[in-house]
Amino acid sequence: MATYQFAYHMSGLTKTYAGGKKVLDNVHLSFYPNAKIGVLGVNGAGKSTLLRIMAGLDKDYSGEAWAAEGVRVGYLPQEPKLDADKNVRDNVMEGVAKQKAILDRYNELAMNYSEETADEMTRLQDEIEAQGLWDLDSKVDQAMDALRCPPDDWDVTKLSGGERRRVALCRLDPDRHP
Ligand SMILES: Nc1ncnc2c1ncn2[C@@H]1O[C@H](COP(=O)(O)OP(=O)(O)OP(=O)(O)O)[C@@H](O)[C@H]1O
Ligand SMILES: [Mg+2]
Repeated sequence: MATYQFAYHMSGLTKTYAGGKKVLDNVHLSFYPNAKIGVLGVNGAGKSTLLRIMAGLDKDYSGEAWAAEGVRVGYLPQEPKLDADKNVRDNVMEGVAKQKAILDRYNELAMNYSEETADEMTRLQDEIEAQGLWDLDSKVDQAMDALRCPPDDWDVTKLSGGERRRVALCRLDPDRHP
């Protein structure tokens, strides 16, 4: 039986866009867990094309490309979009919307306890513990500090390109793609 050594593996990958433009031709690339890799190339060389394929966003190619079982892939687009109606903090919180919803529901039930919702509360509590969500807000604080995000209440429409990317990076949720 094959054991997964590589975190990611690509072989003989060729990408041709509609219209016949061949952007990637017979690419081979494999790497181990914890590798940090940069992809270099002039504008239009096909870097974003390659990364979109690696993220599973583009499945229209020939050749082989896979991430090892259990590997989660996050993709930050080159020009990330932020929600202009939300401040920095609320944009970041979009990345943990599912986790936040679990906590909110738990708190809602906890405020008026009843027999009917006891099972649901137990399930939610298990989920919160399994995912370590009790301190979700402070985890978000830590992530925002580590990535040097601008202050929580800043207007995202007035951020610099670099600041926007930090907010978008902090919001990144591997299970969801823009
Ligand atoms: N959807 C598409 N349809 C047709 N051609 C495309 C499409 N997307 C990209 N291309 C072309 O494929 C080539 C590679 O584009 P890609 O975005 O991968 O380049 P890149 O290396 O990321 O460039 P940059 O450094 O400017 O970000 C470019 O010539 C681009 O015009
Ligand atoms: Mg690009």
